[in-house]
Amino acid sequence: MTYIVRPMRGEDIPQAIEIDREAFPTQWPHPSYTSLKRELHNQLTRYIVACKQRRGRSETIRQDTSRGFWYKLPWLKLFTNNSQQPPTIEDYIVGYAGFWTMVDEAHLTTIAVRDAYRRRGLGELLLISVIHSAIQLKAQIITLEVRLSNKAAQALYEKYGFKAVGLRRSYYSDNGEDALLMSTDTITSVPFQTHFHQQRQAHAQKWGEAFDYTFLAGV
Ligand SMILES: CC(C)(COP(=O)(O)OP(=O)(O)OC[C@H]1O[C@@H](n2cnc3c(N)ncnc32)[C@H](O)[C@@H]1OP(=O)(O)O)[C@@H](O)C(=O)NCCC(=O)NCCS
Repeated sequence: MTYIVRPMRGEDIPQAIEIDREAFPTQWPHPSYTSLKRELHNQLTRYIVACKQRRGRSETIRQDTSRGFWYKLPWLKLFTNNSQQPPTIEDYIVGYAGFWTMVDEAHLTTIAVRDAYRRRGLGELLLISVIHSAIQLKAQIITLEVRLSNKAAQALYEKYGFKAVGLRRSYYSDNGEDALLMSTDTITSVPFQTHFHQQRQAHAQKWGEAFDYTFLAGV
């Protein structure tokens, strides 16, 4: 099975909403088609999806240079084995993530993987992509909020060097739960980059991921 990470497109929105409802069942309001569509057109926000690769599709994306810098970033491929998958009608989205960038900060607003696809390295693949993109977009730090009780997500973030830097009291309106504010150190610093590359390599060894740097040629 092959997975790729690529920018979210309008046609992905219904599946992203499905994933969001499954991952955050108590959250309200959920993103709507209109709100996500608006986000996709916002210059400050970025959304990416991890999907089962449709044959030939990555070539289409690779050649799509008319959509600006964001679409030229080197998207990631994850090969979990070499079995040949028949082409599908549409990409099956297994997870997605969103972040915004402002001045030198990138802020992760959402990351979620379909329940049935968890613990397969896909959340990590999405986070690697977010960090990689943030570095390319010249952000200096990445911040996020996470529920105090969400130990799985916190473990993922800690693995990539995020540290707890504060608490937002009663941040979540559904149950009044506090949010832990987490931040990286400077993502362009040597220690962060060294750690990032080590973790990325370990992920590649475990899951067979490979970077595709074709996009960099045109940047
Ligand atoms: C958080 C989430 C995205 C992780 O995705 P995933 O694909 O299952 O995670 P991965 O398989 O890539 O795991 C990567 C790392 O995350 C951590 N992790 C993931 N799930 C974990 C769990 N259930 N318990 C403890 N650690 C966990 C581990 O450090 C893991 O590394 P390891 O495999 O070396 O132990 C997923 O659990 C999810 O979608 N949760 C619901 C939505 C959510 O809470 N999003 C975060 C909002 S702040």
